[in-house]
Amino acid sequence: MGAIALTFSLIVFRIAAPNLDLQSVVIKNLKFNSSSSPPYLNMTFIAEIQVKNDNFGTFKFQNSSAGVFYNGTLIGTSGFFGGEVRGRETENMNVTIKVSSNVWVNQTYLNGDLNSGLVKLRSYADFRGKVTVLKIAKQSKVSVLDCTMNLNLTSKAIQDISCAEN
Ligand SMILES: *[C@@H]1O[C@H](CO)[C@@H](O)[C@H](O)[C@H]1NC(C)=O
Ligand SMILES: *[C@@H]1O[C@H](CO)[C@@H](O)[C@H](O)[C@H]1NC(C)=O
Ligand SMILES: *[C@@H]1O[C@H](CO)[C@@H](O)[C@H](O)[C@H]1NC(C)=O
Ligand SMILES: *[C@@H]1O[C@H](CO)[C@@H](O)[C@H](O)[C@H]1NC(C)=O
Ligand SMILES: *[C@@H]1O[C@H](CO)[C@@H](O)[C@H](O)[C@H]1NC(C)=O
Ligand SMILES: *[C@@H]1O[C@H](CO)[C@@H](O)[C@H](O)[C@H]1NC(C)=O
Ligand SMILES: *[C@@H]1O[C@H](CO)[C@@H](O)[C@H](O)[C@H]1NC(C)=O
Repeated sequence: MGAIALTFSLIVFRIAAPNLDLQSVVIKNLKFNSSSSPPYLNMTFIAEIQVKNDNFGTFKFQNSSAGVFYNGTLIGTSGFFGGEVRGRETENMNVTIKVSSNVWVNQTYLNGDLNSGLVKLRSYADFRGKVTVLKIAKQSKVSVLDCTMNLNLTSKAIQDISCAEN
């Protein structure tokens, strides 16, 4: 009996950071020119982020933001509201980010990538919050989404999404 109760509590009260995954990205309003001065890349980047909460308690996360990077430079960011994902549940949310290459982007590299037809991007977001199990066990957790991908200028779509395990 004791062993069963112990095993039960070890499973139920084990709290881990919920898992984030980039399900898909929709690109809209894509505009670019490699030969203008400076070369530019503008678009609306809609990321569908999945929050998978394997814990036996609700994950409540705070307001946060998501960003898109080109060659280490932030080229778009958007805040999103906090929310919650109940225990053993999965929620998807869309975050819309207006992306625009800026003066900090290395123009030589951007020109080259735009001409190649493939632009490597990175997307990052963190979800900070608390997981509460049966009102008694409460732990702060941070989940991170960190993915690289290619923007294909011919198909005007994102391909080759690869996310770091967290
Ligand atoms: C791109 O920029 C070049 C140089 O400024 C210009 O001649 C060309 O019309 C532009 N192309 C587009 C599609 O805007
Ligand atoms: C989250 O953002 C909304 C809207 O900006 C704001 O009303 C709310 O107070 C924020 N919540 C926290 C916990 O900062
Ligand atoms: C920027 O692009 C150049 C050329 O592709 C590459 O060598 C360099 O490592 C990149 N830097 C970052 C921070 O991604
Ligand atoms: C996110 O946007 C995509 C494409 O517009 C849509 O298919 C999907 O249902 C949306 N997801 C959520 C959670 O709103
Ligand atoms: C690209 O976006 C920036 C910032 O929103 C804007 O100032 C610029 O006019 C846009 N360029 C084009 C060609 O749409
Ligand atoms: C862009 O990268 C090239 C190659 O490394 C370098 O020569 C150039 O100075 C960089 N330009 C800027 C604005 O950082
Ligand atoms: C980019 O998209 C086009 C059109 O869908 C496709 O033919 C091409 O193979 C893609 N490029 C790469 C490098 O995947």
